[in-house]
Amino acid sequence: MPRGHRSDRRAGSRSPEGEHIRHNRAVWDRVSTWYDRRFAKVLGGSRATSWGLFRIPEARLDLLGRVRGKRVLEVGCGAARWSIALAREGARAVGVDLSTSQLAKARRLVAKSHRSVPLVRASVEQLPFEDAVFDIVFCDWGAMTFSDPRRSVPECARVLAVGGRFVFATASPLRNIALDLRADRQVTRFTRPYFGTYRIDLGPNDAVEFHPPYGVWIDLFRQNGLRVDRLIETRPSPEQRSRYLTRADARWARSWPVEAIWKLEKE
Ligand SMILES: C[S@@+](CC[C@H](N)C(=O)[O-])C[C@H]1O[C@@H](n2cnc3c(N)ncnc32)[C@H](O)[C@@H]1O
Repeated sequence: MPRGHRSDRRAGSRSPEGEHIRHNRAVWDRVSTWYDRRFAKVLGGSRATSWGLFRIPEARLDLLGRVRGKRVLEVGCGAARWSIALAREGARAVGVDLSTSQLAKARRLVAKSHRSVPLVRASVEQLPFEDAVFDIVFCDWGAMTFSDPRRSVPECARVLAVGGRFVFATASPLRNIALDLRADRQVTRFTRPYFGTYRIDLGPNDAVEFHPPYGVWIDLFRQNGLRVDRLIETRPSPEQRSRYLTRADARWARSWPVEAIWKLEKE
């Protein structure tokens, strides 16, 4: 655990927890077992350090860089497979997650790994860490998908040291304006406006997600001292399958970006 950890009080924003956080915690506590059973195979083993819907290896993208000796924070770590794998490479990794059930799985996997990966129950919108105590903050469809970027971007920037990296994979804004929620599939027409789209309520039993337009993301990054280094809009090969997408949606993703991976640097 970095010295800057505060378990007694919150270091981040003092504003009250939003209703979307309470809602998402309940959703993730409920779906945790199902999620882990369904995706354990593509999230674990040799695929633990792979990105996104198409599990592109970090070894190919090189977004985190060398992690040995680095202080690394995973926000929305789930069962912490990514963090455990980075700890094996010599990183001083810490996992944060909102959900007690997700963290219970993480605790079991950390114990089995015989690595030290401190796990903290918190929201990315109120991180219980001092300023500038991490070299890398990252998530793979973790907390950045399910939190309000107006709160989570400043928090991630705050805990990063100057020169540190912030990398996260989430949905592309285009995915959401061509998403038919009722049919739960991508379509080739717009289903909602691009401008003004920010928060998406997927349904009473599903998590609330946040997917602002590109311009809003970039303004938030700049306001918080984060320079955009890369934006990867993942595109599957014609034969590529995804455990997360139907075949039709994977085909859709050949023509339009379904996913965005941001790589940022703290200035
Ligand atoms: C889709 S899972 C991804 C986790 C991990 N990358 C994986 O693939 O197993 C999203 C995770 O983000 C967590 N999460 C959602 N909102 C969060 C928030 N505001 N702060 C911290 N974690 C959050 C959820 O509890 C869940 O474990």
